[in-house]
Amino acid sequence: MSGVVNKVMQDTKIVKIDVDKIDNSLIEECANILNCGGTVAFPTETVYGLGANALDPKAVKKIFEAKGRPSDNPLIVHITKIEDIFPLVESIPQKVYPVIEKFWPGPLTIIFEKSDIVPHEISAGLSTVAIRMPSHPIAVKLIEEAGIPIAAPSANLSGKPSPTKAEHVIEDLSGKVDAIVAGGDSNVGVESTVLDMSGDIPMILRPGGVTKEMLEEVLGEVSIDKAIEGPTEIKEAPKSPGMKYTHYAPKANVIIIEGDLEKTVNKIKELKVNYENDNKKVGIICTDETINKYTKSIIKSIGSRNSPESIAANLFKVLREFDETDVQIILSESVDAVKIGQAVMNRLKKAAGYCIIKAE
Ligand code: TXA
Ligand code: MG
Repeated sequence: MSGVVNKVMQDTKIVKIDVDKIDNSLIEECANILNCGGTVAFPTETVYGLGANALDPKAVKKIFEAKGRPSDNPLIVHITKIEDIFPLVESIPQKVYPVIEKFWPGPLTIIFEKSDIVPHEISAGLSTVAIRMPSHPIAVKLIEEAGIPIAAPSANLSGKPSPTKAEHVIEDLSGKVDAIVAGGDSNVGVESTVLDMSGDIPMILRPGGVTKEMLEEVLGEVSIDKAIEGPTEIKEAPKSPGMKYTHYAPKANVIIIEGDLEKTVNKIKELKVNYENDNKKVGIICTDETINKYTKSIIKSIGSRNSPESIAANLFKVLREFDETDVQIILSESVDAVKIGQAVMNRLKKAAGYCIIKAE
């Protein structure tokens, strides 16, 4: 059923829209909020985004406030037609066109030299702007109806896992934004790939829905920003995992166990016993192939190893589900960091504050 169902807190409208039967009057209502300088969270194919008029610095500031996002982290600008890029950028390098043709609309963000109309608040002081053309029908209709470029980071509180369901957004942002469109689940489940094409070799700044392998088919050699690997991995199981580089993080401390699958399972069982002897409540993130190998804890599968796409789609949901439990330590299997698995492992490592143990 579609319709404005209720106001969760005083000032956040929850607008339910059926993706298979989009009610244009509800889209108009939300577009109107965006045009008046307000904030609207909406579904995209990757994750839910928190939108505002990208050309209005005051509106953009509301995004940073609602999320508690540091102002030095730039935002992605969302458009629906290639022509929409022209006013936002200095120029479009020729080599970008085949990439746009192949992957837009879709989960790919491209970095351009920005024009003067892109506010400082969007670019966080950089000379560049990140632009993406989403494919989700609700996102497309909303941006088209608003008739303006829409800045939209993931619609989570800063540091928490990105939202793939309307309930995640409601939990994080109700009372803090003008409206939340509840429009079903985001099916990719990890955010867009961020691609910098300014150098000779295109570089992935964030792995995401469009994989390195897919980009290489169009572009030849593609590199990955070294910073993605994060700090040197921690080899020992910490007694009390301390300071973390928290992002995508559930309340419990996440520890990733990496290596041969059988050894991984054994290592997780061993660590579980150790932590439980230390009076810690332990949860396990596993896969469909291994779920039957564990007992007596909160065990959640992120999907089948034969379907990396299902794992990407489930990851953030599973991380958030642990917040409804009282586990203090989450021991997680790793998956192959190829294709979309590269984005999955990147998010999982951040959730773990790069606490990774080799199963030997
Ligand atoms: O799938 C997505 O990209 C989602 C949906 C809502 O579109 N949005 C999203 O936005 O993930 P956010 O703000 O959570 O992540 C944006 C990423 C950040 O890592 C940011 O640093 C990077 O893009 N970024 C934005 N502008 C940039 C720029 N000019 N240069 C380099 N990186 C940039
Ligand atoms: Mg984000």
